[in-house]
Amino acid sequence: MNHAWTRRAFAAGVVGGGAIVLTMPLLARAQQAGAALTYPFPAVPRNLGLTLAPTPSCSTATEAQTEGPFYSPRTPERISLIEGASRARTLVLEGLVMTPDCKPVANAAIDFWHCDDEGVYDTRGMRYRGHQFTDANGVYRLETIRPPQYPGRTPHIHAKLQGERTRILTTQIYFPDEPVANARDGIFRPSLLIAQQTAPDGSVLGRFDFVLTSV
Ligand SMILES: [Fe+2]
Repeated sequence: MNHAWTRRAFAAGVVGGGAIVLTMPLLARAQQAGAALTYPFPAVPRNLGLTLAPTPSCSTATEAQTEGPFYSPRTPERISLIEGASRARTLVLEGLVMTPDCKPVANAAIDFWHCDDEGVYDTRGMRYRGHQFTDANGVYRLETIRPPQYPGRTPHIHAKLQGERTRILTTQIYFPDEPVANARDGIFRPSLLIAQQTAPDGSVLGRFDFVLTSV
């Protein structure tokens, strides 16, 4: 699958809203939407720590968003998606996973996926895909690159989360330093903006707290 094809397929299938134009590989992926995460929860969660102030209140469940056509299940368990050869800006994203009454969700599984530094999703392998589990305090930490815009979409990261006793959440998170692209993107929601600090070298430290609902 070449890059141009991938971009065209995405534009046709999502931005154009045309499910009927999905080609077979994309249709197969779409049929996975909504399936529960099946990663085994670890017996002893890690302790990761936190450094940025929280994103808005845990009283409201995080807004769900479309999964899009590029989710892959059974990703590798890893905190870092960074590749040695990449020259893209690095992003460290961390935060809590909580319930609406502000209790941390330990051992929640989180699958992250996003496009590469050219705006293309790896649909054959696992580049920029990985899952992890929150620690004993409900904390996650993702080390990756700051994804770029691609045709029709503002920069974003996809996430799918599930705790041992929560409903599954599929959503996307966004960057506050992209106001023009965010405003043009019909899927973007302000409630899904991360808090972020940018270092002099351009690397980004971000925080986003996810709120899941109980089963
Ligand atoms: Fe996407």
